[in-house]
Amino acid sequence: MDPGTDNRPRRNETAGQGDCQWAGARLVTHPGTARRGGLVTVPGIPATTMPSTSTEARALRPHAEDAFAEELAALAAADDRPRPARWRLSPWSVATYLLGGTLPDGTVITPKYVGPRRIVEVAVTTLATDRALLLLGVPGTAKTWVSEHLAAAVSGDSTLLVQGTAGTAEEAIRYGWNYARLLAHGPSREALVPSPVMRAMAEGLTARVEELTRIPADVQDSLITVLSEKTLPVPELGEEIQAVRGFNLIATANDRDRGVNELSSALRRRFNTVVLPLPETPEAEVDIVARRVEQLGRALDLPTAPDGADEIRRVVTVFRELRDGVTTDGRTRIKSPSGTLSTAEAISVVTGGLALAAHFGDGVLRAGDVAAGVLGAVVRDPVADRLVWQEYLETVVRERDGWKDFYRACREVSA
Ligand SMILES: Nc1ncnc2c1ncn2[C@@H]1O[C@H](COP(=O)(O)OP(=O)(O)O)[C@@H](O)[C@H]1O
Ligand SMILES: [Mg+2]
Repeated sequence: MDPGTDNRPRRNETAGQGDCQWAGARLVTHPGTARRGGLVTVPGIPATTMPSTSTEARALRPHAEDAFAEELAALAAADDRPRPARWRLSPWSVATYLLGGTLPDGTVITPKYVGPRRIVEVAVTTLATDRALLLLGVPGTAKTWVSEHLAAAVSGDSTLLVQGTAGTAEEAIRYGWNYARLLAHGPSREALVPSPVMRAMAEGLTARVEELTRIPADVQDSLITVLSEKTLPVPELGEEIQAVRGFNLIATANDRDRGVNELSSALRRRFNTVVLPLPETPEAEVDIVARRVEQLGRALDLPTAPDGADEIRRVVTVFRELRDGVTTDGRTRIKSPSGTLSTAEAISVVTGGLALAAHFGDGVLRAGDVAAGVLGAVVRDPVADRLVWQEYLETVVRERDGWKDFYRACREVSA
């Protein structure tokens, strides 16, 4: 059978299937319907076996559009600026969602990203053009975080995600086949399994590709037609899927990965690149860590530590000094360990410490609760990093006023 002449009615396109022109696109739970409220009904799993009370059923990590649904709704209600086609919010409101602010009706929008306003403005504006957005930076600079929140604010859906790895195949970016249907009926729309990118094109939404440079170069290149022609050919059916307005793509890539798989220059030209920096000042970094730890603690039902600020400041100081290779006062040069020691790692060290304090201490975050986490983050290479750490501990931490307890706690776990 010549697939191009297959004119059978599209079975899945009947009532209730939304406006997507692709049958297969509705095989996946669509946000806004079954997933609202964080509870997914999974085909094949009887609803009775799903957790029933609302707290139990709460997703461990809700998607941004669910976690911040109220803020997004308030922003949409107050938004009187022009919105690009299919955008949930105007670019201005998207930027406010990311950076935080107070709406005329008093609603407080929490900052998601702490950093230069201009970076966010450029990123949001890019998404309103025909160029895709590439977020670049060292690990832990909130690339994934920003990408998720951008997709949530622009499209109301951050789930159209391709996770890039060395094993990512072309099907993950283009489309695959349901082999049972393919064998039974030949190539047809029903047998086609659209990728997140294809769904985003068909529905005018934001697609996300994580860790783009980890994807093998030839697979990366399947994005070129998508981004330049805004079309995805399906030769097996003699058809193509054309992106509708509202479609765009956000990719993230690590600076450190450069050389793993370079972005081809042809692909790079389709992107506007925005580099996310490490937090400029210690205060900004402490603020980011404190904010995020508080949110994570709430999600994990950890009691809020009455005063973890001192410990957070110390963890951030240690990480920054080791990262920069020099003490905060600029006086002592130190060696840097092999790990990245990013803000993200400071967040997980403090969250881990908080859990220790909550479950095995008196609920107050102390040096002893973060020491093991700090050691684990710093010493990645058991030989070289340990030397760097010992030297830092003895020459810097030991001598610092008011850090005796921290020094002792670190010595204890380092022995
Ligand atoms: N500038 C920042 N503003 C807000 N959060 C940040 C910032 N930098 C790092 N984070 C936090 O770090 C965590 C990890 O970031 P992530 O997006 O996974 O990093 P990346 O993808 O760049 O490796 C996120 O939880 C985020 O909240
Ligand atoms: Mg990431």
